[in-house]
Amino acid sequence: MNHYVVTGGAGFIGSQIVRSLLAAGAGKVVVIDNLSTGHRANLEEVRPQIDFQRADIRYYEEIAPIIRGAAVVFHEAAIPSVPRSIDDPVPSHEVNIDGTFNVLRAAREGGVGRVVYAASSSAYGDTEVLPKLETMTPNPKSPYALQKLVGEYYCGVFASVWGLETVSLRYFNVYGPRQDPSSPYSGVLSIFMRCAIERRAPTIFGDGETSRDFTFVEDVADLNLKAAKAKDVSGKVYNGGNGGRITLNEAWRLVQELEGVSIAPNYGPPRAGDVRDSQADTTAAVRDLGHAPRYSFEQGMRDTLDWYRQYGG
Ligand code: UD1
Repeated sequence: MNHYVVTGGAGFIGSQIVRSLLAAGAGKVVVIDNLSTGHRANLEEVRPQIDFQRADIRYYEEIAPIIRGAAVVFHEAAIPSVPRSIDDPVPSHEVNIDGTFNVLRAAREGGVGRVVYAASSSAYGDTEVLPKLETMTPNPKSPYALQKLVGEYYCGVFASVWGLETVSLRYFNVYGPRQDPSSPYSGVLSIFMRCAIERRAPTIFGDGETSRDFTFVEDVADLNLKAAKAKDVSGKVYNGGNGGRITLNEAWRLVQELEGVSIAPNYGPPRAGDVRDSQADTTAAVRDLGHAPRYSFEQGMRDTLDWYRQYGG
């Protein structure tokens, strides 16, 4: 029986893909993770059902035997964060570009059925028009955005040159349970929720009118499973978003309301490399992959806040 591989499977998004695969009846799920940003705890309740391999995508020899013969590889392993890639560009370059190349090479040489790649909406940069369409010319504003775009291009080239089936999903600001709020590079909603629970003021970079298409992690995992099965999509790129647009001020307002607090945020200068507005056009993903996000922003935020209240993040 062919197995499924999730690189970065101990991470926030990867571990949700693992749970969704198991819920959908996947026989054998193998996780590749070096635990640099992922945590074993993210896989705690599914641990007996999976094969966990501590391995690093920067080293081809470590991952090739694990990837060989897989039905599908979900490639989630990455060093995320725009500001981290600016402060410390070498590790993110090595993992996000060289590591992705290694995963694709191992998949091609190992006869893998398909690679579903975690691309990023940051590839668009600032566009004149919203929502953002896959046909727009990318305009990366940070090393991270560029690295994720290079991975996408590599997916396209592995498909066209060597016939490896690949699909790239440009994630739009994914949030939800298990997102680690503890680093300055953490996703903004995880930071907002921890601040509200601890009755602290968050810092909003810029005037707070920066907007994002925040997408709930279970919807992103579902989209991955659909992309693994869809027909005639090889080499293509799809937006993995919700289609909405929420400002940071609105998001902090909702977090306060859900938590029953009133705390004025601090405002700081905008962050280097930040995109001003982000919103996905989901037409192609709906048409070709059957994308059907189930969570409204409010519902996703309620579930996420419940999780942080219970587990603290
Ligand atoms: C970017 C990508 C996203 C990718 C992610 C990986 C875009 C549009 N999105 O997310 O696809 O998955 O990187 O890390 O580029 N902020 C605050 N206060 C904080 C933290 C953040 O105001 O304490 C602000 C940031 O300056 C930014 C917004 O919140 O304007 C979102 O930041 P963050 O959650 O880090 O994600 P992006 O950089 O948008």
